[in-house]
Formats: sequence, C-alpha cells, structure tokens
Amino acid sequence: MLAQRALDEVSRRGAFFGREVVSLKADVRGALAFIGASGARGGIMLERSSSSSAASAADEIGAGDGSGECSTRYPRRGSDQGYSVPWSRYSSNRYWDTLFNRTCGSLGWDLKATNNVNVCNARCFSTRDYTSQCVEKNTREGGKLLGSIPRYVKIIEVGPRDGLQNEKDIVPTKVKIELIKMLVSSGLPVVEATSFVSPKWVPQLGDAKDVMEAIQNVEGARFPVLTPNLKGFEAAVAAGAKEVAVFASASESFSKSNINCSIEESLKRYHDVSLAAEKASIPIRGYISCVVGCPVEGKVPPAKVAYVAEKLYEMGCSEISLGDTIGVGTPGTVVPMLEAVMNVVPVDKLAVHFHDTYGQALSNILASLQMGIATVDSSVAGLGGCPYAKGASGNVATEDVVYMLYGLGVKTNVDLGKVMLAGDFICRHLGRPSHSKTATALRTSTAHVSKL
Ligand code: HMG
Ligand code: MG
Repeated sequence: MLAQRALDEVSRRGAFFGREVVSLKADVRGALAFIGASGARGGIMLERSSSSSAASAADEIGAGDGSGECSTRYPRRGSDQGYSVPWSRYSSNRYWDTLFNRTCGSLGWDLKATNNVNVCNARCFSTRDYTSQCVEKNTREGGKLLGSIPRYVKIIEVGPRDGLQNEKDIVPTKVKIELIKMLVSSGLPVVEATSFVSPKWVPQLGDAKDVMEAIQNVEGARFPVLTPNLKGFEAAVAAGAKEVAVFASASESFSKSNINCSIEESLKRYHDVSLAAEKASIPIRGYISCVVGCPVEGKVPPAKVAYVAEKLYEMGCSEISLGDTIGVGTPGTVVPMLEAVMNVVPVDKLAVHFHDTYGQALSNILASLQMGIATVDSSVAGLGGCPYAKGASGNVATEDVVYMLYGLGVKTNVDLGKVMLAGDFICRHLGRPSHSKTATALRTSTAHVSKL
C-alpha cells in the first residue's frame, strides 16, 4: 500500500521528466520489491534511513505527512555517545592530512597532479561555447574531464539561513550565533546568516535582528541576509547587514507560494531593493528558485531561468545563485539550464545551489564546475529546505562538497574538521544525525584508516 502510494507520488511529481520517470519507477519498484522480500524474511521495515536518497525522497513523499520517525539512533543534545573519533582528534589538521594522504595513496591518486587544473570560465562566456573551448584546452593541457575545473571554489555556507528556516522547532538565537561563529572559524568565506522576511511566514528566523547584531564584530567572513522587499532591506541594514540577497523564482506557482506575488511583481520589488542597495553601496545577490523543476508546475524551461537571470543581472546583482529548490535535477537537466543562463550572464557571476533530495547534488556540482562555475552554495550537515517546497530535503552538505573539492585538488581554504565540528554542534542540538555522508564516514574513520 505504502509502496504503491510512493510510486504514484513519484510518478505524479516526476511526470514532467517524461521517459526518465519510467526508469525511476522501475528502480523504486525493484527496491521496494527487494525490501518487501527482505522484510518478509528478516522483518525489515521501509524506513527513512534508506541509503538511497531517491528512494528516501520517494518514501518521504509516500509517508505523506512526513511524520515518520527516523530509525537511526542518535545522541540527543549534550550526549557524547555515538562518536568513535574524539572531537579533539578530528579538529586537527594533521589528522586530516594523514587520512587524505593514506586514502589517496591507497587509491593511487596523486593530488599534486590534480592541482594542475586550469580555469576556462572567462573564455566560456566570451565565446558562448564552453564545450569546444574547454575540451580543446583540456586536450592541450591534460585532464579531458577535469581540466576545466576552477583552481579555487568559493563555498557559500547557507546552513544558518536555508537550514534553520526549515526546522520545525525554533532554534534558540544563541545556538544560531554559536553555529555561525563555528562556521566562520572553519574558513568559510561567506556565511548566509538569516533572513529579514515576514516572521508570520517564517517564524524560525524571527530573531534576524538579534542574530545580525550579535555577529557584528565577528571577523573573517561576509554575512549576507535574505531580503524579500524594501521593508526587509531597511530592517537588515538597520541591524548591520552589509550584503543582501533577493530571491526570485523561475516558476510562477512557486513565486506565488513563496513570496506571494508573480515573477514580474517580484522583479519590480527587487528593482526597488537594488536601487536602495546601490545607493547604500551594498552588494546584492540574486537567487532563482526552481531552475529545473517546480513542485507544482513540473519541468521548468531553461529559457525561463535565463529570462529571470538576465533581469537580476541587469538590475545589478553581483552574483546569481541558481537553485534546484526541490533537488530533482540531474546533469541531464542542469547542463542545458546552465547553457541557457550562460548565454546571458557571465559565468563568473553565477553560483549553484543544489538541494539533495534525489542524491544528485554532487554530480550536478561537478558538471557545473566543468562548465566553469566557481561558486557553490552548501549547508553544514546538509541542513535545509524551503518551508514552501514540501518534501524537498536539505542542501548538499558542506562537508561533502569540501571533501570532493579536496579530492579534485581545488582550493577552498576551508578546514573540513572544523566544519564537521559545527555540523556536530547543530546536529546535537537538533537531536538527529548529520546528512553529510563525509561526516558520517569520517566519524567512524578509525575503522577505515586501519584498513588502508
Ligand atoms: P505578504 O503577506 O504578501 O506581505 O508577504 P505584505 O506586504 O502584504 O505584508 C503583510 C505583513 O507582513 C505586514 O505586516 C507587513 O508589514 C509584513 P502586518 O501589517 O500584517 O502586521 N511584512 C514584513 N515583516 C517583516 N519583514 C518583511 C516584511 N514584509 C512584509 N520583510 C512576503 C510577502 C515576501 C513578506 C512573505 O511572503 C515572506 O516573508 N516570504 C518569505 C518566504 C521565505 O522566506 N521563503 C524561504 C526563503 S527562499 C528559499 O529558501 C529558496 C532559496 O534557498 C533558493 C532555492 O533553494 O531555490 C533562496
Ligand atoms: Mg535553498
């Protein structure tokens, strides 16, 4: 019964993916049949702790009210159980270097070789033909697949905003402030701190003013905040914000449900915000939600994303973040979307923002890097989700992004151990496990290291 509901819902949500949904349905059906058989033998239940994100997404949708209890045991606040590596140990840089070197050595990787990556973004935009430029450059300078990846990637940490806006329970202000400080201490250059939105719409961030005021003297990172209109902009500036972000959508339905207005109305509002920001010399970032799929409308055409991106760029947004709000994209849909946007906005002004509902975020990020994008949004411990996009899960975990970039030889200046400490801190507070695969694996890494 549950299986059928999950399949029906996957079918409804994925109908816009045409043929793709057929194989997804087949996969889910196969997985459910397997679980059903195993369950009959061994008493296994279909649980949200499935190791497949796509299956988990389908399951969560099937569960309907999302009230299913997570079966994984995890220490509640203040408990020390469940960690096999002491905190002091994994916060040490030497520990990480040793672990990475052993891992890379055992797998035959040579990190120095991958450091010779080159950047092709400027060229991509000027010719509007990233494929031939990069491939040609790669064949000349080595690394056909990885040669186009930027040497440095800026990670924008969105956990305190995107993560905490979606929590059922309101996180105390002092916990938010401590989280932000821990993230800054890990070397993350930008930490999106909070939102100056209506507290009736998002009560979780109703303490935006207090958060901003408390981090005024924190050095080492920039703290942009979301502002949906002039009212929010003025409140943010009064609280000490030095950077803001506006958030539009490529889907009419999502625009309506998220900010209660049409796309055109939102662009008009953001134009007003951008004029005020320019006057106050405040940089403004522009988000676009639903860049590949919308929970209501289904598939979103790349041309629509390009249209909104161009408008945000024209009004002066210094960076445009392309959000797969419900995490349905694959490189198959993300690449054409990026191609369309790159025709109207320079690639060095673009960022990607992937929610990981279907487990596709890292592959989408890799494809984006290969196209020259050098700014990636992520969220510590994979926290996140939009309260107005039901069923969508958190952002890609910062720990997983840092791990992948390290493996690619890409510089981030972020200390993975310290991000993990921040992830542990917030997960302990929330009383549930991290969604970061890297953090989960490295937490039990004593076992792995001894085998390498
Ligand atoms: P509205 O109800 O249409 O606004 O909401 P209104 O102008 O009619 O005003 C209604 C009331 O809200 C008034 O108060 C206003 O003063 C107040 P009242 O007279 O009833 O007491 N108000 C505000 N209060 C505080 N701050 C403000 C503000 N503006 C109005 N800035 C509005 C329109 C945009 C305000 C509302 O829809 C809203 O706050 N939406 C925010 C939704 C949100 O935060 N969503 C999550 C962030 S977006 C996201 O997560 C996606 C992203 O991560 C990228 C991705 O993943 O795709 C960025
Ligand atoms: Mg988001």
